[in-house]
Amino acid sequence: ELCKAANGLEKVILRDARGSSAEVYLYGGQVTSWKNDHGEELLFVSSKAIFKPPKAIRGGIPICFPQFSNHGSLEQHGFARNRFWSIDTDPPPLPTNSSSQVHIDLILRPSEEDMKIWPHSYEFRLRIALGPGGNLMLISRVRNTNTDGKPFTFTFAYHTYFSVSDISEVRVEGLETLDYLDNLQNKERFTEQGDAITFESEVDKIYLSTPTKIAILDHEKKRTFVIRKDGLPDAVVWNPWDKKAKAMADFGDDEYKHMLCVEAAAIEKPITLKPGEEWRGRQELSAVPSSYCSGQ
Ligand code: BG6
Repeated sequence: ELCKAANGLEKVILRDARGSSAEVYLYGGQVTSWKNDHGEELLFVSSKAIFKPPKAIRGGIPICFPQFSNHGSLEQHGFARNRFWSIDTDPPPLPTNSSSQVHIDLILRPSEEDMKIWPHSYEFRLRIALGPGGNLMLISRVRNTNTDGKPFTFTFAYHTYFSVSDISEVRVEGLETLDYLDNLQNKERFTEQGDAITFESEVDKIYLSTPTKIAILDHEKKRTFVIRKDGLPDAVVWNPWDKKAKAMADFGDDEYKHMLCVEAAAIEKPITLKPGEEWRGRQELSAVPSSYCSGQ
């Protein structure tokens, strides 16, 4: 279902038979809402988010491509998150069962202006699907369509903003003991110590060679988010905390308490594609009552 939002931008609404739903803006190819079958919102979008180009929408799942953050010479997080994507009416088949699920396929190709910023021709196909149990699936396929024989290299992240009840009650499992690059300390490399990751100040880390499954436990909500990923070895964990929150025009001063970004990514080892080659990166999100997870 394609419709125009009150802000004038086009969005697609996905609804499955059990009542879960997702909302996807063509601007940014960005998921801005994911609700479970009780109608509860699972993603964070700032009340101050600006739904207007050229600013990316603050919240949901921005796509960082072809550059994560400031790891290169392009604008922060690349440009895919502030471009208009199109609906892909005839996508090549995917070897998964997501075609039988409620889904939408989007595509981004470079404009002439884009080619001046990043001189490469590509097709970026994004499938967004609601799976069993209301799971939210995102599958990205990037193909090098350069005709000059040149390879290209990019970094990538699903910059997912999870909605949490109280950041100081949240725990992330699956990243303990791993190496990370600390963006707050000149991208220096450290090793995580201790049991699980908890939050009491600003954090901006890129965990390296992470497992395919990461969990976010929201103690107060008694909810656990599970991220499952393929082709995305890294995981960024970001919360701006109070000072940075105040410095962001499109983010409420206290909203840092109610969000956490855990971003399935490929950063440390950039992806290189020769003409004709395709890369695939997949993330699947589920939200389950915490009691289901005990003992896992
Ligand atoms: C995170 C980065 O992924 O995104 C942070 O690690 C950055 O360094 C944050 O501050 C938000 O970026 P932006 O461009 O959306 O404000």
